Amino acid sequence: MENNKVNAKKAVMIGCGFVGSASVFALMQSGLFTEIALIDADRNKAEGEAMDISHGIPFASPMRIYAGDYDDVADAGIVIISAGAGQKPGETRLDLVNKNVAIFKSIIPEIAKRKFDGILLVVANPVDILTQVAIKLSGLPEQRVIGSGTVLDSARLKYKLGEHLSVDSRSVHAFIVGEHGDSEVVAWSSANVSGVELSEMCEMRGHYQHKENTREIADAVKNSAYEIINRKHATYYGIAMSVRRICEVIMRDEKSILPVSHMIHGAYGIEDVVLSMPAIVGADGVETDIPIKLSGEEALKLKESADALKEILASLEL
Ligand code: 2OP
Repeated sequence: MENNKVNAKKAVMIGCGFVGSASVFALMQSGLFTEIALIDADRNKAEGEAMDISHGIPFASPMRIYAGDYDDVADAGIVIISAGAGQKPGETRLDLVNKNVAIFKSIIPEIAKRKFDGILLVVANPVDILTQVAIKLSGLPEQRVIGSGTVLDSARLKYKLGEHLSVDSRSVHAFIVGEHGDSEVVAWSSANVSGVELSEMCEMRGHYQHKENTREIADAVKNSAYEIINRKHATYYGIAMSVRRICEVIMRDEKSILPVSHMIHGAYGIEDVVLSMPAIVGADGVETDIPIKLSGEEALKLKESADALKEILASLEL
């Protein structure tokens, strides 16, 4: 099957709710794309967002932002899917599974029909399940279908640790792995601040209660979305910056290590399930897993996270 010529500098955003619109706003400012097409079930919403965001272009770089349709997918470099129901107060990400799988069953075949030859980035929740559904329904090579995964959770962790240690969060190297959700795991054993082991850095900064502090920080990160949703009914700026960073790594072929959600084959005994593990990401999507050091307990929790996702996948009719 002959594929379309890809316009690498074109992105398509499917879903123009809070997450989709905030992400396009962040992408407009990034200068990564020359064109972004917005698609939404409500065409007026896509048009309104495109108009509003376009009015920022004179403060950024020239580009086109417009309401498009599925034909725009044909030559896009990156297609991002944020469409779907979001969590309401009291709901978990996994509670969204039936609604959003049904929405994916209508979106993914439209993408597949256009012989899309770029990177598919899933942002809607539950992101791990939906990324696996997208791999299955799209027929795309699995390394080209990735989810935003725990890129946001890892950013939240770095932010919290940066605050705790009073150090630039960009100097903190720490990953959250597994599900983007309640079973996520903090890879404390490999966390460091510019090469200095985390516990050593904590002591240098006057913190000695490692057990209590790490538990508190892990809980705060895991519960971030619940806390935000309780207050403002949605989360979108943090994820928008995560989308921007993932697009940057792909567009610039940076080969950065990001904890994106992707198909795992064998790492830590996990097979055929999509979840987040640090991986080298570039223009062709996920290149290779980076098997960071995990303690026995962390590896066990990661396996449990994978098993929880597998159980949900088994219950889906695809
Ligand atoms: C978040 O973590 C709800 O998944 C979204 O902010």
